[in-house]
Amino acid sequence: MKKVLITGALGQIGSELVERLRKDLGKDNVIATDIREIEGSPVVTDGIFEILDCTGQQAMMDTAKKYEVDTIIHLASLLSATAEKHPQFAWNLNMTGLTNALETARELNLKYFSPSSIAAFGPSTPMDGTPQVTIQRPNTMYGVTKVAGELLCDYYHTKFGVDTRGVRFPGLISWKTLPGGGTTDYAVDIYYEAIKNGHYDSFIAQGTKMDMMYMDDAIDAIVDLMNAPEENLIDRNAFNITAMSFEPEEIAASIKKYMPEFTMGYDVDPVRQGIADSWPNYIDDTAARKQWGFNPKYDLDAMTKDMLEKLGEKLAKEA
Ligand code: SER
Repeated sequence: MKKVLITGALGQIGSELVERLRKDLGKDNVIATDIREIEGSPVVTDGIFEILDCTGQQAMMDTAKKYEVDTIIHLASLLSATAEKHPQFAWNLNMTGLTNALETARELNLKYFSPSSIAAFGPSTPMDGTPQVTIQRPNTMYGVTKVAGELLCDYYHTKFGVDTRGVRFPGLISWKTLPGGGTTDYAVDIYYEAIKNGHYDSFIAQGTKMDMMYMDDAIDAIVDLMNAPEENLIDRNAFNITAMSFEPEEIAASIKKYMPEFTMGYDVDPVRQGIADSWPNYIDDTAARKQWGFNPKYDLDAMTKDMLEKLGEKLAKEA
């Protein structure tokens, strides 16, 4: 991975990955792209940025050719809750974007990464210690596109020899860029509300356990998997990875350790609760740990401490 094209670069993962890869590879070796421009964003101002609609095959191919990249990291996608509101649009965006990115990788012989998600599991999946290879019958459009994507990435590897790689991310928590329309977003919102108001009403119900990870560990995971020697990889795509699993009352308790006055209530959203109930309580990530040394650094309290500090500084500056 020497010169990288990133789609969805202004999103929650993209904005932090761009910053990291500009440091690792040099500014001229990261081509950040997104469907829109956000004025003043460091992604746009601090290096190469191009407007790119990933549903356009030719535009993606042209951009990859223009910059002679050797890797494509395809992040543009609609998350679970938004996808349930616009399922046909979600199928079109998520699948067309993915097939275009894979075709670009095949034609130009690029290394390839795209994320899958815990959303690739469903209500009939074993919920505790969910194995990497297991029943996958998701009942959300986002989940359907993720399972299809995992299979397609494996297919491009076995059929065409494309070096496709991918992980199943859990809920990702970060302070720089907000996630857009996910089910696990409550675990980000809670920190914003804790700092702003000292109180949060969770749209996810008490007792609902989901896997989560701090963004620093997620970015390391992408870089480490992409840099892993090919001969170490038995699997290619859909690696289960997680750093922690908690329910709303546990993240609230963690915040209380640093902000004793914090309180939490519930205002459950039935749609996002239904999605959360269909996902595992905790997944088994042994394969990632063994094959490419996945080893997250942040547990719940370490993440809470860092989030409250960094987000506190950011919100104070914006005020
Ligand atoms: N965080 C995502 C979501 O909630 C899961 O991949 O949609």
